[in-house]
Amino acid sequence: RGAAAATTDLAGTHVVVSAGGTREPLDPVRFLGNRSSGKQGYALARTAAARGARVTLLSANAELPDPAGVDVVHVGTAVQLREAVVKAAADADAVVMAAAVADFRPAVYAPGKIKKQGDSGAPTVELVRNPDILAEISAERARPGQIVVGFAAETDDVLANGRAKLARKGCDLLVVNEVGERKTFGSEENEAVILGSDGAETPVPYGPKEALADRIWDEVVRRVTPAHA
Ligand code: CTP
Ligand code: CA
Repeated sequence: RGAAAATTDLAGTHVVVSAGGTREPLDPVRFLGNRSSGKQGYALARTAAARGARVTLLSANAELPDPAGVDVVHVGTAVQLREAVVKAAADADAVVMAAAVADFRPAVYAPGKIKKQGDSGAPTVELVRNPDILAEISAERARPGQIVVGFAAETDDVLANGRAKLARKGCDLLVVNEVGERKTFGSEENEAVILGSDGAETPVPYGPKEALADRIWDEVVRRVTPAHA
């Protein structure tokens, strides 16, 4: 795309983007988290706003400035993110789950800081499953024609795993990138493939996160039927 800022092909739409990574508290000073920076989700929010969308950005612990012209809701845990997504999705034309959601959270939150006891030994942390937000909003669309987009990072059999995950989640588009020894999580050097539930397969070459974001919105624009147009 050469002139993304000049296009308004998302005008009249409300899009919801989740970004960053959830943190699951263990005690008042510790959490289970992940390395997601939030940069891809913020790039999606910025590019959608530039293309005329009303944008709600649900930010899970991303240490990035709020983008101009975007409604930003800050959340911490997967359970909080689920609540925010379900609420924002109610009148959304598209929902993009770019956040890295923790699959598990500690079964018990210790209200006081966990202390060492004695000279040896270590506690065992029991985990429970978090809700699968993407699967839930895909299965229970807030309105017919709403487009739901997921992300997946895979280490091997990228396309086969991506296709299986797309079917399992029930979303319309899944953005798959390969991670591995040289293509590390967080690095810019990942090429993505956008898979569609309609069989579409769109490779996106290495490039800035804005470029991938714009290619994702291109695929959304082709499928969306705006409620507010
Ligand atoms: N996701 C979600 N809720 C979860 C876990 C993941 O909404 N509890 C979303 C992510 O935001 C992402 C997509 O699902 O858009 C795929 O995440 P991924 O971790 O690859 O999927 P999982 O089903 O958790 O598969 P895996 O066991 O490979 O981690
Ligand atoms: Ca996961």
